[in-house]
Amino acid sequence: MSIDREVHWSRVYATKADEKLSWYQDNPLLSLKLIEGSGIGKHSSVIDVGSGTSTLARYLIEQGVGTITVLDIALEALDRGKSSLGDSSAQVKWVKADITSWTPPKHTFDLWHDRAVFHFLTESSDQTAYILCLNAGLKVGGHAIIATFAPDGPDKCSSLPIVKYDPEELALLLGPNLRLIRYEFDLHETPWGSSQSFQYSLFQKVN
Ligand SMILES: C[S@@+](CC[C@H](N)C(=O)[O-])C[C@H]1O[C@@H](n2cnc3c(N)ncnc32)[C@H](O)[C@@H]1O
Repeated sequence: MSIDREVHWSRVYATKADEKLSWYQDNPLLSLKLIEGSGIGKHSSVIDVGSGTSTLARYLIEQGVGTITVLDIALEALDRGKSSLGDSSAQVKWVKADITSWTPPKHTFDLWHDRAVFHFLTESSDQTAYILCLNAGLKVGGHAIIATFAPDGPDKCSSLPIVKYDPEELALLLGPNLRLIRYEFDLHETPWGSSQSFQYSLFQKVN
């Protein structure tokens, strides 16, 4: 695990309220729309990778999704997510890990959700490790939603360099096991009213 990465994110969550985080959204509308389209239900197993303070988990609990796993590198983010969920936090599996060095339970997840995490991996070794982890954790037939800054999006996120993706480029990088079945572009409005261009791609694991 990269200590610098962990230190960076721990400091972010230790010093900033949700409304000071550029990526914060109270209602993850587009994620929920794509999740709905992937047929997730009460027997499904979902992971939110790099969940931050777990807004998505709150909605998944309300929808009665079977098993919800939330993973983040920053303990501070997980702790904040847990306290905001109150008693329902017991319905979630909380994992503190760096996704590039995590060993997932094998072929477990029906849905893998990642909004603004993969784009921080600028080294090809980290991208490869992430893709191996995704393939190991996802069931064949399962879906992955990967949202990153789009080609016309910002060059940095949380002051860190990122990689911007077009959905087709992302599909090439993820490889033939993950078939791109749908994508949407979205302008995210930050809590202080500026815009960030995202792409959301929905993949299905075919092998
Ligand atoms: C830009 S925030 C996005 C948070 C959330 N997905 C959202 O859309 O609100 C990136 C999140 O990914 C986490 N993160 C960054 N690198 C990570 C890594 N290598 N492994 C796991 N989590 C990571 C950070 O702690 C942070 O919570």
